[in-house]
Amino acid sequence: MINGKTRTCGLIGNPVEHTLSPVIHNTLAEECGHNLVYVPFPVEAGRVAEAVRGAYALDILGLNVTVPYKSEVMDALVETDELAARIGAVNTLVRTQGGYKGYNTDVNGLYRAMLSEGIRLEGEEIILLGAGGAARSAAFLCGAKNASGVYLLNRSMDKAVQVADEVNGAFGRKLVHPMLLSDHPKLPDQKFLAIQGTSVGLSPHDEDAVIEDAAFYKKIHTGFDLIYKPFTTRFMKLVAEAGGKAYNGLKMLLYQGIDAYELWNQVKITEERAALVYDKLRRAMGL
Ligand code: ATR
Repeated sequence: MINGKTRTCGLIGNPVEHTLSPVIHNTLAEECGHNLVYVPFPVEAGRVAEAVRGAYALDILGLNVTVPYKSEVMDALVETDELAARIGAVNTLVRTQGGYKGYNTDVNGLYRAMLSEGIRLEGEEIILLGAGGAARSAAFLCGAKNASGVYLLNRSMDKAVQVADEVNGAFGRKLVHPMLLSDHPKLPDQKFLAIQGTSVGLSPHDEDAVIEDAAFYKKIHTGFDLIYKPFTTRFMKLVAEAGGKAYNGLKMLLYQGIDAYELWNQVKITEERAALVYDKLRRAMGL
């Protein structure tokens, strides 16, 4: 029941109407018996700093940050976690003395999602498709978890080179090799973990995949699409048709939320509760 002691968390971004984050956090609050509500806050362009100041004044416990404010919000924080600062993107604000501290739970969320499916990054050879915000986070995760090599394939070479330089610079080794998507036939003839981080195949373009060539998919033992809508992307179908295991990004969404909830409330969410929230997310998506 909402009463005089209810704490508030929320999401700032633009747009925010289609967010599934309230499902995650309000379910967790209910399950944990926390007196907390989570609501979306649409923020107009140019008003992020004002929104963060206002949230602090209103005693808001924590915020998630989504598109297009994940880097802009960093100017409004009193402190930023080291990995989030390296990545240059913050998706979670935690209330501290004098202001909010920024974290990037997208990265750890992806890691926890992969762990929950038994996928490792340590020592792995990885193909990463894309060089936008989502793919960048995945590239940093590969660096943080000591992947042995990452072939980063993108439509435009300049962005691929930029992400590769940033990640290689941050981890002090030549981990990421930038390539053009169209050069995928030049990939070594071996089996890879492939992470699909482009926006190609996102609903309503369910029938699109960033690469169609069946020969490419023969090189993939496991395909992880960061997209979760549709639930089974064309990329995942192509991976499965070629004999690989395929996963979508819904567990990444789940665990980035759980990670944020844990930071806000200083609790550890059990796998049993995570499974319950995952079921609710699926139902909210009409599955
Ligand atoms: P997100 O936040 O989802 O990562 P983004 O930062 O806009 O979104 O990045 C979108 C990614 O999808 C980029 O890697 C983009 O390639 P470019 O850097 O060349 O723009 C990729 N992408 C989008 N549409 C594409 C298409 N039709 N073919 C190939 N790649 C595409």
